[in-house]
Amino acid sequence: MRIITAGVALAALMFAMPVAKAADPIVLKFSHVVAENTPKGQMANKFKDLVAERLGGKVVVEVFPNAQLYGDNKVLEAMLLGDVHMAAPALSKFKKYTKSLQLFDLPFLFKNIEAVDRFQQSEAGQQLLLSMKKKGIIGLGYLHNGLKQLSASSPLRVPADAHGMKFRIMTSDVLAAQFEAVDALPVKKPFSEVFTLLQTRAIDGQENTWSNIYSKKFFEVQPYITHTDHGLIDYMVITSTEFWTDLPEDTRKELKAALDEAVAFGNKVALAKAESDKKLIMDSRRSEIIELSDDERAKWVEVMKPVWKKFESQIGKDLIDSAAASNAAS
Ligand code: LMR
Repeated sequence: MRIITAGVALAALMFAMPVAKAADPIVLKFSHVVAENTPKGQMANKFKDLVAERLGGKVVVEVFPNAQLYGDNKVLEAMLLGDVHMAAPALSKFKKYTKSLQLFDLPFLFKNIEAVDRFQQSEAGQQLLLSMKKKGIIGLGYLHNGLKQLSASSPLRVPADAHGMKFRIMTSDVLAAQFEAVDALPVKKPFSEVFTLLQTRAIDGQENTWSNIYSKKFFEVQPYITHTDHGLIDYMVITSTEFWTDLPEDTRKELKAALDEAVAFGNKVALAKAESDKKLIMDSRRSEIIELSDDERAKWVEVMKPVWKKFESQIGKDLIDSAAASNAAS
C-alpha cells in the first residue's frame, strides 16, 4: 500500500516538474500575394532555405504565397497584431501608413531598373525604409519586380484609346490620378481578384509587370498588352518593429544577412523574368504585344506627367527631384 502511494506521489511530482527540452524555434511567417515562380516568390523561398541552412532549429520560416494567408490589404494590420512577421507588398500599397512612398507610383519617373536601384540605394532611398517606423513597421530592404505594362481588351496606342475604360489599380491615389489623366476609370481591387475581373469583363484592363501578367495568366484573358514601361512595381520587405527588436541580436543579424542574400537573388530573377516572361507571352500568341513609336509614347508621357505636380506637396519636391535625378547615369 505504502509502495503504491509512493509511486503515485512520484508520478505526480514528475508531471509537475518542467521537462528540460530544447527551446522551440521562432516561427517567422512570410506572407505574399504572388505566385512562387515570380521574383518575390523566389526571393521568399530562397530566404526560407537560407534560414533553414544557417539557423536551423533556431528560426523556421514559413512562406504563404498567392494571398493564401492575407491579401495586401490585410497584411499590415496582421503584422501589427503579430499574426505574420514578414511581407513584401508593392510600394503602392502603403498609403495608410506613409505618403512618401507614393513617390514610386509617379508615372514615367524612372527610365529603367538601374535608375530605380541607384535611387533606392541612395541616402534618400534608404531613409524611406524608415518612413513607417512610428507606425510600428520597418523596411528591411527593397526588392525589384519591374516596370509596368498596360493590358486591355482593345489595343492601346495613344491615351485617347483608354477613354472610358475601366482599369484595375492597386490601392494608390497616384495610380487613380494617372488613369483619370487619360479619362479612364480606375478601380481599386486586390491582386487576387484581377484574373476573374478580367475574365468576366467586369474591367477592361490593368497594369502590371511581365512576370505578374505571365504567372497569373492575365495574358490569356487580355488580347492586347502595350509595352509602355510607364511605372514601377517594386517591393519593400517589411517586418514589425516589435518583432524585429525583440529578436536576440545575433539572430537578427543572421536573418538580415540571409534576407540581403535572398533579395540579391530575387533581383536577378526579376531582371531575367522581365525578358523571359515577355517572350513566353509573345510565343503563346494569346495576346498581341504592342510596341509604341517614340511619338506615341511621348503622348502618354505628356498626359500622365502632370500627376507629379498634383502629389508634390504630399511627397516632397526634393524627394521627387532626387528620384528623377537617378535617371542620369552616375
Ligand atoms: C498587384 O497588386 O498588382 C501587385 O502588387 C502584386 C505584387 O505583389 O506583385
